[in-house]
Amino acid sequence: MDRVVIFDTTLRDGEQSPGATMHTDEKLTIARQLARLGVDVIEAGFPASSPGDLESVQRIARQISGPTICGLARCVKGDIDAAWEAVRDAEKKRIHTFIATSDIHLQHKLRMTREQVLQRTREMVSYARSLCDDIEFSPEDASRSDPEFLYQVLAVAIEAGATTLNIPDTVGYATPQEFGALIRGIRENTPGIERAVISVHCHNDLGMATANSLAGVVEGARQVECTINGLGERSGNAALEEVVMALYTRGQHYGCATNIQTSEIYPTSRMVTNYTGLSVQVNKAIVGANAFAHEAGIHQDGILKNRQTYEIMDAATVGVPQSTLVLGKHSGRHAFADKLDQMGYHLDGEQLDRAFARFKELADKKKSISDPDLEALVSDEVFQPQEVFHLEQVQVSCGDCSIPTATVSLRGPTGELLIDASHGTGPVDAVYKAINRIVAVPNELIEFSVKGVTEGIDAVGEVTIRIEAENGTADGWPVNPQTGRRTMVFSGHGASTDIIVASARAYMSALNKLISIRTKR
Ligand code: KIV
Ligand code: ZN
Repeated sequence: MDRVVIFDTTLRDGEQSPGATMHTDEKLTIARQLARLGVDVIEAGFPASSPGDLESVQRIARQISGPTICGLARCVKGDIDAAWEAVRDAEKKRIHTFIATSDIHLQHKLRMTREQVLQRTREMVSYARSLCDDIEFSPEDASRSDPEFLYQVLAVAIEAGATTLNIPDTVGYATPQEFGALIRGIRENTPGIERAVISVHCHNDLGMATANSLAGVVEGARQVECTINGLGERSGNAALEEVVMALYTRGQHYGCATNIQTSEIYPTSRMVTNYTGLSVQVNKAIVGANAFAHEAGIHQDGILKNRQTYEIMDAATVGVPQSTLVLGKHSGRHAFADKLDQMGYHLDGEQLDRAFARFKELADKKKSISDPDLEALVSDEVFQPQEVFHLEQVQVSCGDCSIPTATVSLRGPTGELLIDASHGTGPVDAVYKAINRIVAVPNELIEFSVKGVTEGIDAVGEVTIRIEAENGTADGWPVNPQTGRRTMVFSGHGASTDIIVASARAYMSALNKLISIRTKR
């Protein structure tokens, strides 16, 4: 079997998903999980885009071992310098530089001639290669570029020292037949191509990102760029879980394999969902809630007789929690830790103590605790930011004949107890206003969603929110293209059998992220 290099760009292209902003600590935790998943390359960010991005890539480069750490750069000296600064301390490092090659981009965006693009490619790839041995070059919008010009640019990049040539379908326009033919054409017509690895980078605008990536593999591409949950600009990039499981399940067909530890796929997907606040649709391939569910009677009957009648993959292979150990009120800490381990959550020390205390609390309220209950509770514990303010208590009074009123108490940064109260249009509004009176950090709630993780009236409720805040000093915060203001979005996540408490926890988690980022800046 040939090996296909898995290049994960969740932290770069994935972060370009509207609303998917992640913060340095979150990126570091995700990078650590990507290393556990076994990806070969982590594209950790676009260092020239902001000081915050440079810092995240640098911290990942210094702390994560295993995968190659890569930074993106336009074919511009300043960008390449920033990318090198960010990745230079990594155990294995790569600079990824790109320039557009389609006539549309040349005329309207770059305002450059083809000659100028060839010259810039030569100069900037050589410059990058003078800094780093591992250089990836991408002709942006390759699938809408003139193939003859593409072969020329790629040949120049190889001559200048590029070791990987990445072919992007930037706007998700190609069909699998066209994209496969493009890769074949490049393989057959680019001088020096045998000295480089061909890579594919497909967007999902027409829902064909995975199919296009695999068509590229059939024609000789040996690196696939992808993201967890298919996150990415607009409708996203090829989903890592789909590409990997297609190669795994249809290994004989493709004759290729990857280094991915498939049982880490589901925990990684959950982690990314929790940190970005972007849930995957229930019928999403591999990681959706229904991916391994069977509803129709005929299917259930078939599954009971032989799983292979309706299942081409085993849920355990991708790390979907399997119920071998049922937990209840009398379960001990050891059984609890074991169960979490089976579910892909490796907790110890204080984190385990806190999760266990919450499990006991839940077990007192709920007779049977399902895997989704446990997952909601544990992910609420694990994926929380460093606390500046801690929620101690929340108390509400509401109903159709009373004014919704909330009293909250928070533990402040120096350990002091802070109590305040407010009324609002509903209980959640009252709680958020009471918290605002204490914390006093202006922000706008832009999204609020609540869902029960299981059926039944005693289900655990999961609340996901997003808040948007403006930075007074503006340093390094991106401009929101819709409002023209320097704002950042923070997601928060909370779980409890009481949805008002879950809402308060979600708000505190988003606020704590906002406050710590602002304090750092
Ligand atoms: O989609 C694209 O063209 C990109 C390049 C920067 C590789 O993300
Ligand atoms: Zn892209």
